[in-house]
Amino acid sequence: MAVSKVTVIVLVVLSLCAIVATGLLVYFFAGRYGDDDPVDVTNTTPTPPTTTPPSEVTDVRLPVHLHPTLYNIKILAKFDQENDYPLHGEATIDLACDSPGSNVTLHAKNLNVTSATVTTAEGTELAVSDRTYDPERDFFIAMLDEDLEAGKTYRIRMEYRGRLQRDLVGYYLSQYDEGDSTRNLAVTKFQPTDARKAFPCFDEPDFKANFSVSLGRPNGTNWVALSNMNSTGITGDTSEPGYVWESFETSVPMSTYLVAFAVSEFAADGANVSLAEGEIPFKVWARPEMIEFTQKAMEHGPAILKYFEEYFDIPYPLPKMDMIALPDFASGAMENWGLVTYREEYLLYQWNQTSAATLTRIVYIIAHELAHMWFGDLVTPVWWNDLWLNEGFASYVMYLGSERVEPNWSWMDQFVFSDLQDVLYLDSLENSHSISVEVNNPNQISQIFDRISYAKGASVIRMMSHFLTEKIFKKGVSDYLKAFQYDNAVQDDLWQYLEWAVGNATKPALPTLSALPGTVKDIMDSWTLFTGYPVVNATREGQTVTFQQKRFLLNPGASEKLTTLWYIPLNVIGSSNSTDDFDSTGAMAWLEKTGESVALGLPSEDEDWYLVNLQQTGYYRVNYDDGNWEALRAALAADHTVIPTINRAGLLDDALSLARAGLLDYRVALNLTGYLGSEKAYIPWAATIRNFNYIRGMIETTGTYDHYKAYILSLLRHVMTPGFNFPTLEEVPKDGNYTDVTGVMYETLIWTTACEMGEESCVDVTADLFKKWKDNYDESKPDEPTLNPSMKALVYCQGVREGGEDAWEFIYKHYNLTNYASERTLVLQAMACTNISKLLDRYLDLLLGEGGAIQRQDVSRAFAYIAANPHGRLDAFKFVRDNWDYLQATFGVGTAAFGRFITPFSSFNTETELALLEFLKDAHSNELGSAERAMEQTIESVQINIRWIGDNIDVVTDWLKMKNSVEVL
Ligand SMILES: *[C@@H]1O[C@H](CO)[C@@H](O)[C@H](O)[C@H]1NC(C)=O
Ligand SMILES: *[C@@H]1O[C@H](CO)[C@@H](O)[C@H](O)[C@H]1NC(C)=O
Ligand SMILES: *[C@@H]1O[C@H](CO)[C@@H](O)[C@H](O)[C@H]1NC(C)=O
Repeated sequence: MAVSKVTVIVLVVLSLCAIVATGLLVYFFAGRYGDDDPVDVTNTTPTPPTTTPPSEVTDVRLPVHLHPTLYNIKILAKFDQENDYPLHGEATIDLACDSPGSNVTLHAKNLNVTSATVTTAEGTELAVSDRTYDPERDFFIAMLDEDLEAGKTYRIRMEYRGRLQRDLVGYYLSQYDEGDSTRNLAVTKFQPTDARKAFPCFDEPDFKANFSVSLGRPNGTNWVALSNMNSTGITGDTSEPGYVWESFETSVPMSTYLVAFAVSEFAADGANVSLAEGEIPFKVWARPEMIEFTQKAMEHGPAILKYFEEYFDIPYPLPKMDMIALPDFASGAMENWGLVTYREEYLLYQWNQTSAATLTRIVYIIAHELAHMWFGDLVTPVWWNDLWLNEGFASYVMYLGSERVEPNWSWMDQFVFSDLQDVLYLDSLENSHSISVEVNNPNQISQIFDRISYAKGASVIRMMSHFLTEKIFKKGVSDYLKAFQYDNAVQDDLWQYLEWAVGNATKPALPTLSALPGTVKDIMDSWTLFTGYPVVNATREGQTVTFQQKRFLLNPGASEKLTTLWYIPLNVIGSSNSTDDFDSTGAMAWLEKTGESVALGLPSEDEDWYLVNLQQTGYYRVNYDDGNWEALRAALAADHTVIPTINRAGLLDDALSLARAGLLDYRVALNLTGYLGSEKAYIPWAATIRNFNYIRGMIETTGTYDHYKAYILSLLRHVMTPGFNFPTLEEVPKDGNYTDVTGVMYETLIWTTACEMGEESCVDVTADLFKKWKDNYDESKPDEPTLNPSMKALVYCQGVREGGEDAWEFIYKHYNLTNYASERTLVLQAMACTNISKLLDRYLDLLLGEGGAIQRQDVSRAFAYIAANPHGRLDAFKFVRDNWDYLQATFGVGTAAFGRFITPFSSFNTETELALLEFLKDAHSNELGSAERAMEQTIESVQINIRWIGDNIDVVTDWLKMKNSVEVL
């Protein structure tokens, strides 16, 4: 699905800094990385987790005696508030019978089927003896008096009634204000299992069929209906007063979750775009007031689509492309074939409102969704257990598509920080799940739209493209897509095609210095079927470096009994190598599943240092012998540019994570950070701050925090030299063509960190800017730009933190007045920055508001911001405890959002807090639904935190004290 989960879910970080800086949508999790993803968790005791709640039916799959070949869907959503937005539908489905059976069973949910007739190909009606509904499986079953015969075709025609959904899934109602009026629109979001809420269907990805859609829409020239295919115009049907019917061309074969409809009063910006097989219309839709902000999407969308035609070597298969910006959308974006849906925030760009980080996100989300037109839409996983293949692939190649349109934005740096290192952080718990995972029911399915599927999937695919070489990788992928187009596949199919590509490559084309140690499947299975990842231990003697592997786990007590082994591609470089050599990312040797060590030679005996995992293309951490850590520290301190940016960030991230896991002396890791005063690149700082934020979360309420602040300020002082000024609006390029987008992220991160650490120049300038904004605020022009958009999050947060109740009320008013989705996101973050408990409690109450004091799409996110604030955390916990039933009913079914009410408590770090969580878990052990894994993970994280404090707080405190005293001298 949607990328956004990529992003939305993502994140990391705890502090506003990170938030502002990462460029990810951040859910801010206090004190830690967060995410709604898996970090997994576990008990420290060896008892295996036992739960599959007994109430859950596991066999929810449709019987397979029939498959659909063609759907005729006629559906009318009435914007009739008095009658609660009724939905009238007719679904006629052509069926092929594959084996005998005496029923037609398909999915329907929240629909009342009022008639169902089954006919033979000749039109003879078969008697339906009974119609039943199985609510546990969402099955509608028409029982027949006679058997359907294998090899014959049939047709089922159903009329049904429903309502437009209000919960952002299925065919749902969205509303927005235009001037003084409220406008309605109806739009779909089906992935993974919600097409069944719009029309009865075989709602599993393997049941591909053609779709012929006809949508009822209000009669009026401002109304427009969209679906996957081109409109064939208005039909003559006048049966529904006030509405007309608009029909669409029959689609190519596709899965139900990719079907889409939209009925709105939106405007379009568009052009004909010439693609491999001729011109197609490419349009971007938005509410009319926003239409001028579609330019970036129109500039980049077509170019990215062309790029993927070349990349996959397959023409874009549909006759048009529509991308639509929605005021309410559950995830970030959704790759419906030919009609891609987005949150407004992730499609519309305004130079003076959108931060550089959000602009990069717009670009890569577009690229992510457009990559899915092939990988996911044209070829679709047989079942959701291979979701990762879809999402991991799109999450990797989106960076390549982005690079095509913005070649200078350091996309691989962004990948390494935002995806690879982010998920390494999360994938370090004993119970982290494997990428490829068995899922059955909708709750389980929605839980895997997580960072493991997206970011770990992307990371192991990137690793593979480096050890196979890009040329072989692309060939295998393209052949695979051609072989399975309009069909479904499993991961082994992809491995098979890559294997053939390897075999077909002439020897010199194989860049790898060492042959593959097994088949592509052998190698990749070790990464996709097993949980976690390894740390490679490297030790040097003279010219020889010896490698060994072991699973990396954050919990120092856990590792002994775990024996997973991987096929690990290795490469190494010595200080005498040139910087160009860092691009030789093929495998020089492999660690194998035997567990045996392996050795590689360095160019000479007198290398000052050596470095493993060039450009951090391997999905693992590296631990070195003490001598080499010291040599690397010295090299960074002397001239850090001898090591490229990605590897600098990698060294910091590895060292601090190894220390956290008890595998490296904390002092060694902390010593590496000493050079950061002269670091001008974004990701080494960002990686460090992410790790430091963990430490901060553990010590924030202790005396150590002052030493922590003093140390970071000492580093910042070297960076914030004269000339390092607070960015102004005037510096923003009006065309959005940033020459150095990570440079902007760097400035944002540095200033944000400075303010958080209490650095006076930052506190003063932000207070001043906030006051000016507030004093000049004109309610009739709430969106008058005055601030650099990349600095707004910081200014708003500081303003609220320092400005008391008055500032909070002011910014909440702004939430209701602004017309911009991105602005509302910033306000939601800022409202959580206050230290006043009363206000945080009020904010929590707003989350329950009927009629949406806070938009439903934003509730779990806003909650995570509040829970990230140490002053709000305990009240946030009580909020979940006291409103469990409401939250469960509202967010608990069919979406991953429910877990986001649990994961922010990963920053708890006392026995009392642990007991609170365990109590909550026990009280609801049978109704955790889609939050089941999140609960397990959160509890394990808290156990690890408690242990961290016992093991590390003294050594960290002593180191900081020592550092600061040296600094003062
Ligand atoms: C419908 O028919 C299929 C095929 O014979 C069978 O597997 C399934 O159990 C039947 N369902 C019901 C509810 O009878
Ligand atoms: C479906 O049927 C139930 C039971 O008769 C009724 O309560 C409900 O309102 C109906 N829903 C619609 C959308 O007609
Ligand atoms: C739609 O509106 C037009 C113009 O008012 C009218 O001529 C036409 O009959 C209407 N169609 C339907 C189906 O109501």
